[in-house]
Amino acid sequence: MGVETAGTRMTSEQIVAANRAHTFFSWSVQGQLDPVAIDRAEGVYLYTPEGKRILDFNSQLMSVNIGHGDMRVVNAITEQATKLQYVQPAFATEIRGRLGAKLAEILPGDMDKVFFTLGGAEAVENAIKFARHLTGRHKILSRYRAYHGATFGAMTLTGDPRRWANEPGLVGVVRYPDTHRWGEAEPRPVAESLQGLEDVIRYEGAHTIAAIFLETIVGTNGILIPPDGYIKGVREICDRNGILMVCDEVMAGFGRTGRWFAVDHWDVVPDLMTMAKGLTSSYLPLGAVAMRHHIAEAFETRMFYGGLTYSSHPVSLAAALATISVYEEDDLIGNAARLGPVMTAHHERLAARHPSVGAHRNLGLFGILDLVRSRDPWTPMTSFNATSDEMKAIGKFFRENGLYAFTPNNSIHTNPPLCITEAQLADGFEIIDRALDIADQAVLG
Ligand SMILES: Cc1ncc(COP(=O)(O)O)c(C=O)c1O
Repeated sequence: MGVETAGTRMTSEQIVAANRAHTFFSWSVQGQLDPVAIDRAEGVYLYTPEGKRILDFNSQLMSVNIGHGDMRVVNAITEQATKLQYVQPAFATEIRGRLGAKLAEILPGDMDKVFFTLGGAEAVENAIKFARHLTGRHKILSRYRAYHGATFGAMTLTGDPRRWANEPGLVGVVRYPDTHRWGEAEPRPVAESLQGLEDVIRYEGAHTIAAIFLETIVGTNGILIPPDGYIKGVREICDRNGILMVCDEVMAGFGRTGRWFAVDHWDVVPDLMTMAKGLTSSYLPLGAVAMRHHIAEAFETRMFYGGLTYSSHPVSLAAALATISVYEEDDLIGNAARLGPVMTAHHERLAARHPSVGAHRNLGLFGILDLVRSRDPWTPMTSFNATSDEMKAIGKFFRENGLYAFTPNNSIHTNPPLCITEAQLADGFEIIDRALDIADQAVLG
C-alpha cells in the first residue's frame, strides 16, 4: 500500500499496514502482530484515528505516570528545544544543574548525584559499571523473577525467560532465591529468603561480589511486594559483606507506589538506584543511576569509564524537571497513596465474586490480579512461560471493550496513570469484572 501524502489522515488500517511493512516491533513474532493504531492521548485515555476511546490501565509500560498530554511538560520541552537542543555531555547546562538539584532533594537518604542515561536498561548497564569500578569485584547477584532491560548486561541480570534467546550474556552473574517463587500463592518467609541469599554469598565468596541487584518491587514478573523486613535484611547483608545494594526503581519509582520511591516504604537507602520511565513520564527517553554521597565522592579521584552521546540530553532533562513539578503541583503521589486502598477494595470485590481470582496485590497504584484454575491446590491459569486460551480471550475482551491492560502469564496488571480519578478507576474495574467471567469458566470443580 502507498503511504498517504502529508495533509491526508491515515486510517487505522493504513497506519498498521505501514508500520508492519517497514518497522520492526519488539518482543514479537512479526507475522502474528495486530497492533492498535493510536492517534492521540489525553489524561488516562488513548484515542484511535477513528475516535475510539481506550482507558489506559497500564500507563503504557507502567511509565506515563502523570497521564497523557500534559501541556506543562510539552511546553517545557518546547522551550528547552527552542533555546538549546543539545550539547555533548562534557558541557554544563542550567537544566542539568536544576534537575540534578531537584533529584537530590527527592532521592532517598544521602543519594545526591545522578548519571543520566537514555532509559532503564542503560541505567542498569552503568550501575553494573559503577559497582565493578568501585569494588574491584566482578560478580553481580540477581534473581529469576526479575526484568532489568534488554541490553546484554541488563538482559543477563533479567531472570525471566526473555533472557534465554540472548544467552550467553555477561560473565559473573549469579542468581539468588526469589522472595516469591513462580507458581506459589504466597511469598516465602523473610528469614528463609535472606538465608538463601546468605548461602549464595557464602558459596560464591563475598570478596568476589560487587553488587546485589533487585527490583524493590518486582514489576513485570508479577508486582511482587517484598514482605516487611526483606529490603532491610538485604541492606544489612550488603553492609556486612561490603557488597553494594542496587535497587532497580525503573518501574516502581516516581510515585507509582504512593511514595517517591518504593524503598521509601521501608526507609532503606540503596547504594545505587536505577530509574527511568516515570522520571519523564515517558514524554521523552531518559534514565538515571543515582548514587549515595560516599560513592559520588569516590569518583572525585578516580576515572569513570562510561559515557553516552545523549547522556544529560537537555530536552529530556527539561521533560523530567517539568514532570517532577507536575507530580508536586497535582499531588499525584498523594493521589496514588489515597487510591491504593480504593484499588485494594476493587481487587477484594473481584476476588469475592470470581473464583478465578486466586490472589491480588497492590501498593499504591501498582497492582495485579493473579488468575487460577483452582485456588487449592494452587493452579495458575497458565503454566510457566506460556499463555492459555482464557488469557487470550481476556486480552481480546479488553480490546473490544476499550481497556488497555497488561496481561502477561496468568495475570491482569492494574497500573493506571497516577492522575486517575475514583470514577475512572471504577470504570476500568467494571470492564475487568466482566472479563473475569471468561476466566471463571476455566475454574475446576
Ligand atoms: C525494573 C525495570 N528495569 C529496567 C527496565 C528497562 O528499561 P528500558 O526499557 O527503559 O530500557 C524495565 C523496563 O520495563 C524495568 O521494568
